[in-house]
Formats: sequence, structure tokens, C-alpha cells
Amino acid sequence: ARKQRKNRDMSDFAERLIHWQQQHGRHALPWQDTQDPYRIWLSEIMLQQTQVDTVIPYYARFLERFPDLASLAGAAVDEVMTHWSGLGYYARARNLHRAAQAIVESHGGHFPRTAAEIATLPGIGRSTAAAIAAFAFGERAAILDGNVKRVLTRLFGVEGFPGEKRVETQLWALAESLLPTRELGRYTQAQMDLGATLCTRSKPACMRCPFADDCVARRDGRVGELPTPRPKKTVPRRSARYAIIIHEHAVLLERRPPAGIWGGLLTPPEIPATAPDGGVWAQQHLGLACAPARALASLTHTFTHFVLELQPVLLHASTPTCTLIADDGALRWHALADLADAALPAPMRKILDALAAPDLFDGAHAINTG
Ligand code: ADE
Repeated sequence: ARKQRKNRDMSDFAERLIHWQQQHGRHALPWQDTQDPYRIWLSEIMLQQTQVDTVIPYYARFLERFPDLASLAGAAVDEVMTHWSGLGYYARARNLHRAAQAIVESHGGHFPRTAAEIATLPGIGRSTAAAIAAFAFGERAAILDGNVKRVLTRLFGVEGFPGEKRVETQLWALAESLLPTRELGRYTQAQMDLGATLCTRSKPACMRCPFADDCVARRDGRVGELPTPRPKKTVPRRSARYAIIIHEHAVLLERRPPAGIWGGLLTPPEIPATAPDGGVWAQQHLGLACAPARALASLTHTFTHFVLELQPVLLHASTPTCTLIADDGALRWHALADLADAALPAPMRKILDALAAPDLFDGAHAINTG
């Protein structure tokens, strides 16, 4: 028989979650003993991208200085920033200050009482607005932060990257369909607690999860695969050959033009894609007679917008004078011993460091003396 695809009846999801929160959730957090929307709002903003333990001392200090909406709205932004300094993501503090002023100006200093109104304030998204409204006013509004997305995608086997519009819409609908009709504050806290303490990103504690027997991801052995990660951007790949021209104990390097990759840094000259052979190219364009080329191990380097495969081609120049033709002043010989201080991009340094291998110089020596 085919495996049962639908999970167990989840109509009592909220009830079981609330029950779990009472037994195993977090209860002593400083923002849990208040119904003051200002204090709840502040906690939710501080808790975005920031751990509870980090937030607690900041929360206390901030409230000591700005105990209510009016004191925050009336403060200079610099002082607000001072009390935020060290918490990071400083746009949060600027938005907090702007929102306090907006509430004073447009709402007569009274914190708006619905999630829809709260969501119009600077720095407050749909999920944060819902959390504030649920905690402060018991509004029946669904939250959908990163923790809740993780819980729902696993529990219900929702496929696709949750940052994608289609998936997010589906998750909002699911979150709304699960809402209880009472105890919205505790239910909201319960979702956060489940995601933060059991259904964690790595090594979730499924053994202690009240929904272990209902969870689609667990049933299918896909806990590690859900939520679906952000799709990898396909970046263009490019490859380029570089002439590592050695003469005695020096290497020929080119100063790159200021714009473009490695602007202003030193790299071995690039062999144009149109040149069939590195040795022939060095002879024709640089006037350097070289021993037959030898390909060195290639390596890849990832830039923001593309991946470059670097193919180093080792050439031993046998020209005694090493006078270069076609030189616009960018090409210079550099003693291999002095490269430590040279402005080399990391992958080039790696290639040139490999030249320290003594067998390469045996070759150079043979050419120069032979
Ligand atoms: N993260 C976001 N909101 C939270 C809350 N109310 N308690 C604990 N962690 C949270």
C-alpha cells in the first residue's frame, strides 16, 4: 500500500501547541510580563536577527532611558542610537524613533490597536505587527517569521524556498488557517518557542517535539532538507590563461588598470583567448623566447558576479636581455623572493607560491645554463 501522504489530523494543532507552551515554553522573559504595546514592540524589534540573551540587557537599559513612547519620540536620534549601539542592524533603531514620532503625530500618541494599522509604521512588517497585536491586544493575527516558516515547512512538508512569493503566500494561508480563537498571545509565543528551542535549523530535538508523529519532514526523513534553501544563483563562468613567465629568479607581472577585476593589483599577464599558444604569444608580443609552455594546475576563484577559472601556463624565458616589446609601462620583472609585499590578488599569490617548489627552478636553471 502507498504510504499515507497526508499528515494526521492537525485541527487541534493550536490547542496542543498552547498546551506544550504552558509546560515547556519560555515564561520568564522580560517582555512577557507586560501588555504595554510600546514595550512589546520594542522587544520584537530588538529580537529581530538578535538572540534573546543578547537583547535582555539592552532592553532593560533602553527602557530605563525611554520608559514610554513619548520619551522615545521626544529624544534626539543620536541618543537613541547610543542606546542601540552594539545591537547591530541600526536601521531598526532609526525606524523605531521615526515610528514613535509618527504615532505621536498621527495617532495622538496612542499606539495603534490593530495589526493592519501597526504594519503601516516604519520598520514593522506584517509578521511583527501581528505579534505585537496578538501579545498586546489578543488580536487573531498570524505571524510568519523565520522560525515559524521553518516549523510549518517541516510539519506540513511545504516545498520550495520560503522567500519565494508563491511559497510565502502558501505559508501565510496555512498560518492563518491554524489560528486558534483564544489565547492568541500564548499561541504566538508558543510558535516562537517551538522554533527557537526544538525545531531548530540544525539538530532539531524531534524526540521532544509534541508534533513528532505528525511531522511530514520527520516521516519522510527530510528534516535536514526542509525548509528548502535559497536557490543558488547560477553565476556565469569564465576562464582565462595567465602567462607565468620566469627569468632567472624573477617573474613578469602586469599592473592591472584601475577599473575592473583586481583593479590596480599585480597579476601575471593574461594570454588573450585568441592566442593559440602561450609561448608563441610571449615571443610575438613580448619578444621573449621561451622554453615550451607547461600548464600548471588550474584553480577557480569566485567573484560576486562570476566564477573565474585561472589556467596558469609556466614559461621559462631564455632571452638573455629580457627587453620587452609592446610594453606600455605596466609590465615589470619582480624578484620571486620579494613577492611577499607585492599587491597580488589571492589566487595569483597561490599560483606564485606554488612556484617555490624547487623542481620548477631546476627547469629554469637548465634553460639558462644549457
Ligand atoms: N523572538 C521574537 N519575538 C520573541 C519573543 N516574544 N520571545 C522570544 N523570542 C522572540
